Amino acid sequence: MSTPLLIQALQGRTLSRPPVWFMRQAGRYLPEYRELRAKAPDFIAFCLNPEMAAEATLQPMRRFGFDAAIVFADILLIPGALGQKVWFEAGEGPRLGALPSVQSMADKAQQAGEALKAVGQTLSLVRAELEPERALIGFAGAPWTVATYMVDGEHRTMGKGERGLARTYAYTQPEIVYGLLDVLVEATARYLKMQQDAGAQVLKIFESWAEGLPDDLFETLVLKPHQKLVARARELGVTVPLIGFPRGSAALAERYARECDVQGVALDTACPLEVGQRVQAIKPIQGALDPLLLRAGGDALDRRVDQLMEAWGQGPWIFNLGHGILPDVPIAHVEQVLKRIGAQ
Ligand code: CP3
Repeated sequence: MSTPLLIQALQGRTLSRPPVWFMRQAGRYLPEYRELRAKAPDFIAFCLNPEMAAEATLQPMRRFGFDAAIVFADILLIPGALGQKVWFEAGEGPRLGALPSVQSMADKAQQAGEALKAVGQTLSLVRAELEPERALIGFAGAPWTVATYMVDGEHRTMGKGERGLARTYAYTQPEIVYGLLDVLVEATARYLKMQQDAGAQVLKIFESWAEGLPDDLFETLVLKPHQKLVARARELGVTVPLIGFPRGSAALAERYARECDVQGVALDTACPLEVGQRVQAIKPIQGALDPLLLRAGGDALDRRVDQLMEAWGQGPWIFNLGHGILPDVPIAHVEQVLKRIGAQ
């Protein structure tokens, strides 16, 4: 069995074309996803239903030549496993209830893998269907990003200018924030180990809110927790490659690549091509086509794909978007990109 291209890229090999997958490749731009989603009014229940989640994971794989499937789940399953109420309201996004005490969550952290074993069942179902040359990715939110949602909880300040309460709390109530980060490191390491045991061949850590942090907070809220998470996951027996995605922190991406023991660094849309090249000199990179350009299409899309190929094609690189695919992206544009890079 040949090693999937995605794994080869994470081993540092330069390939004749980059492996490709898209963040949120299972989602609302696909009519078959919308049909499936309509049968599951409760999004969390959808994520925790292995048959439905496996079907959502496989939908883009049937349609396109993606080199990897990413398990259909959400970063906000972890707060649920720690005893915080989480639900999604149509047109509004995620809602979370009151933050439980750090002690009560610490008690539950050990069992996070067990509590979310439905996600493991999804991974096993998908692995059984997926061709061996296509890799299966598991994931979790990074501690800080998940903490951002958890601390905001019932206060609902996210998106109202200060991007939630969590950063203010890091200054005013550090014991809560740093205590919570430690709990999340433990819960997330256990969750990732469970995903590996169920069939995940690569694990991605989504740090969607690394953006805009002063560098001292980047160190304590992002870098240190990632280092602890990677070390704890390895200690628990995680051996598969890890991809870190510190979104919105291009200025610190090289430092992250050097100091965090992940095997790949995912870059976001705003990362300059030359910064990507410098990170690539340290370890394999992933990214970073603008999701808005994927929606716009046309010659501009071909030109930018060519530019990315020119800038990053020589080094180990996984082709992806700089952030999740938008719900109104024409399917033909996804096919256009895959053809352009020779994956379809
Ligand atoms: O990439 C994939 O295809 C795998 C599945 C996946 C989902 N969420 C499914 C989803 C992944 C990897 C995520 C990660 C996730 N979830 C992140 C980190 C990545 C990022 O986008 O920055 C974050 C911040 C979340 C939390 C979350 N989940 C939000 C803020 C929302 C609402 C936004 C929206 O688009 O409505 C979700 C919902 C969600 N997660 C959807 C999907 C397909 C849309 C829900 C629906 O189908 O109604």
